[in-house]
Amino acid sequence: MNAITRLATVISLATLFPLGAQAADPKGTVEVVHWWTSGGEKAAVDVLKAQVEKDGFIWKDGAVAGGGGSTAMTVLKSRAVSGNPPSVAQIKGPDIQEWGSLGLLSTDTLAPVAKAEKWDSLLSKKVSDTVKYEGEYVAVPVNIHRVNWLWINPEVFKKAGIDKAPTTLEEFYAAGDKLKAAGFIALAHGGQPWQDSTVFEDVVLSVMGADGYKKALVDLDQKTLTGPEMVKTLTELKKLATYMDANRAGRDWNVAAADVINGKAGMQMMGDWAKSEWTAAKKIAGKDYQCVPFPGTDKAFTYNIDSLAVFQLKAEKEGDIAAQQDLAKVALGENFQKVFSINKGSIPVRTDMLNDMEKLGFDACAQTAAKDFLADEKTGGLQPSMAHNMATTLAVQGAFFDVVTNYINDPKADPADTAKKLGAAVKSAQ
Ligand code: BGC
Repeated sequence: MNAITRLATVISLATLFPLGAQAADPKGTVEVVHWWTSGGEKAAVDVLKAQVEKDGFIWKDGAVAGGGGSTAMTVLKSRAVSGNPPSVAQIKGPDIQEWGSLGLLSTDTLAPVAKAEKWDSLLSKKVSDTVKYEGEYVAVPVNIHRVNWLWINPEVFKKAGIDKAPTTLEEFYAAGDKLKAAGFIALAHGGQPWQDSTVFEDVVLSVMGADGYKKALVDLDQKTLTGPEMVKTLTELKKLATYMDANRAGRDWNVAAADVINGKAGMQMMGDWAKSEWTAAKKIAGKDYQCVPFPGTDKAFTYNIDSLAVFQLKAEKEGDIAAQQDLAKVALGENFQKVFSINKGSIPVRTDMLNDMEKLGFDACAQTAAKDFLADEKTGGLQPSMAHNMATTLAVQGAFFDVVTNYINDPKADPADTAKKLGAAVKSAQ
């Protein structure tokens, strides 16, 4: 924090807490940068805020609007560059290693909490490795999202004469044709790069299977990125895009979700944070809406783990460090894991809870997600989401985003040329 910012903080704190109020001083402050700003997401993060406040700490909310987190990441970077990072931020996947290597994350704040709460035994190794830097926890994982879902409004399907959820791409297109003919938006969608790439990775998974997905989006194998299966994927993606809402440009994911909830559209391809909107609208899984794996991807699970990383604070900021530790302890507690995920649409990250989902009160979608997560972990079907920062660096992800979004928005673009472009763009971002 530079001198001017420090001064400004002192001044604003002095205005907020005149001397009398400071007597009942809170134990410390935790500022959290995150991008949970839709109605359902806010309901979920409010659970964390309420508990941290109940424990006697001040929660300073650093919410940055913009699904998928690209804007939040830009804000975070510029704050870090100007020497004013928050104390906690939503950072995920391989990006955690990059922030760790800059020396900005604390490698000792979480150690006592992790030891006391036995995090190593609560988390699968895949998860704990992701949130550790050089063997030490630098972030606390809060939940697991599945990305490859298709959300369906059954009432709209009925009106369009469709009697079952599609299980293949052909059935998906057939359902799309019927929805269009009946005057509905077939596929609600927001035309933002991260949403386009969420759809793209579902199609990669459907066409190439989990092995091909891994080769293309995780191993970044040039042969797979530019080969015939990628050309086929892009050909299917072009067809699929014809079912998307024509007025999608720049639309937020939750606005697209609302189109399905309100009966304007039949389907949406989105991770299960979309369920947070259905839950906020008081709709019941299995009755008012259906969640099914995107056609052709039922044996796979693209995962997206939300985690909150802790920044290094000066040793004398004991109260604020205690606030970071409190937040981390709350986040992996059993009660929070349950209530947060029920609001957020996700499943707990604690392995001991994943086998007990029905008993814990989770709905049908969450029960399916937990069952599939455990099964797909054993078969190689469990793969990190590229569109949600779990598979690659942000630079490589940016290369995918550019090529995919340009392709979806240019009906004349050629699949074979685009596959070549994809290979070249990924190579130069590596
Ligand atoms: C995050 C979710 C969030 C979604 C939409 C994803 O990348 O992991 O927590 O709800 O973006 O903003």
